[in-house]
Amino acid sequence: MLKKILVIFPMLFVFLSGQSVLADAQQKRQAKRIHDRLTGVPPTDAVLTTMESLLATDSSGKSAAAEALKDPAFYNVTLKNFVAPWTNEEQTVFTPLNDYTATVIGMIRDDVDFREVLYGDILYTGNNQPAYSNSNNQHYEALEALGPIAGDLSDSNILQAQTQSAVTGLDASATAGVLTSRAAARAFFYLGTNRAMLRFTLINHLCTDLEPLKDNTRVPDHVHQDVSRSPGGDSRIYLNSCVGCHAGMDGMMGAFANYNLGFNADANGNIIEDSAQLVYTPGVVQNKFLQNENNFKPGHVTIDDSWINYWRNGQNALLGWSAGYPGLNLDAKGNATGNGAKALGRELANSTAFAQCQVKKVFKTVCLREPGDTADRTEVDTITTDFRAGGYKMKQVFRDVAAYCKGS
Ligand code: HEC
Repeated sequence: MLKKILVIFPMLFVFLSGQSVLADAQQKRQAKRIHDRLTGVPPTDAVLTTMESLLATDSSGKSAAAEALKDPAFYNVTLKNFVAPWTNEEQTVFTPLNDYTATVIGMIRDDVDFREVLYGDILYTGNNQPAYSNSNNQHYEALEALGPIAGDLSDSNILQAQTQSAVTGLDASATAGVLTSRAAARAFFYLGTNRAMLRFTLINHLCTDLEPLKDNTRVPDHVHQDVSRSPGGDSRIYLNSCVGCHAGMDGMMGAFANYNLGFNADANGNIIEDSAQLVYTPGVVQNKFLQNENNFKPGHVTIDDSWINYWRNGQNALLGWSAGYPGLNLDAKGNATGNGAKALGRELANSTAFAQCQVKKVFKTVCLREPGDTADRTEVDTITTDFRAGGYKMKQVFRDVAAYCKGS
């Protein structure tokens, strides 16, 4: 009997210590991967040790990921690259820091309800000179040039929360999160008809372009005069194609009727290209909404900044429009209606598609791939539900996604 115990005991010892060596190796691997994916840099020895012990007590990886999120590189590198492509039509990351990017970074850092990105009176500025300007980007370029210490965006003494109404002088009721940032105006209110602001908001914040939303069964009464009803002399093209986008899109675009991009002029009256700035004309519809009126005279004429969301019904009900949020106004047919960009921002930000889009974007950034199989999709749904229930905190999404993609 004694002999048996003596034989088994050392075997048991070898077995247990072997397990723990394996577990240690796994925790190290996971800690490194989580840190690298969230910050782009390896952890210091001290942080690695902390993350490994957190993984030992919380094998989900969430506690370890929360630890990695304290690294300034998460803000100065990962988030900057995450947001920069949303701020230009080319969707390139190679663009200087600007008010749109800085505001999103600050909102994520401070756990601001992320829906406000589309309707808040919110703006983040640096504590540096030159001061914020409505007509150039020098403030943010100077902040970026200070580098990761003096220009550390994770430091709330450096990147500070403000309101647009206080800094830019825009009427508080006309503010709509990043939609009324200088960078977004410069990119999406430039020339055209302001439809680009809606299109890129859908791409960047609901993760869909217009093509998948085409629904030619919607009421076409808001399609503007500039859209020909018989392009190339063929009304079938209008009915089968054009109206699919324009019925819904033109219903919403009234929200931007009082906005434009403006420029300063030099002494000779020539436009200074570098002076692009948001223009807001309360009560006055911008000319770009009324151009090409002869393309179809009986088309919709914009008289104010009202909008209607026809996509609440039909196939685009799938975007998951909210059944109730403060300020929601539904007409007798169940279409949401409102005035101005702030109200439209609320309508979009309260959809399921908005919440899910934030999670999908984080998934792509942190997992380095699109959510693919059933397990991925289920996880995206779970993290989306938790994101909404937890007050729309983006750091929580980064934490949960990094934990999911920690590897084995
Ligand atoms: C897939 C969605 C979609 C379809 C289909 C579509 N459009 Fe558009 N249309 C847009 C978007 C988005 C814009 C804004 C483009 C921009 O400014 O970046 C636009 C802009 C326009 C403009 C304004 C151009 C300007 O800036 O002056 C006209 C006119 C127009 N479309 C007519 C048509 C006609 C006619 C058809 C059918 C042949 C059509 N569209 C089909 C999405 C669509």
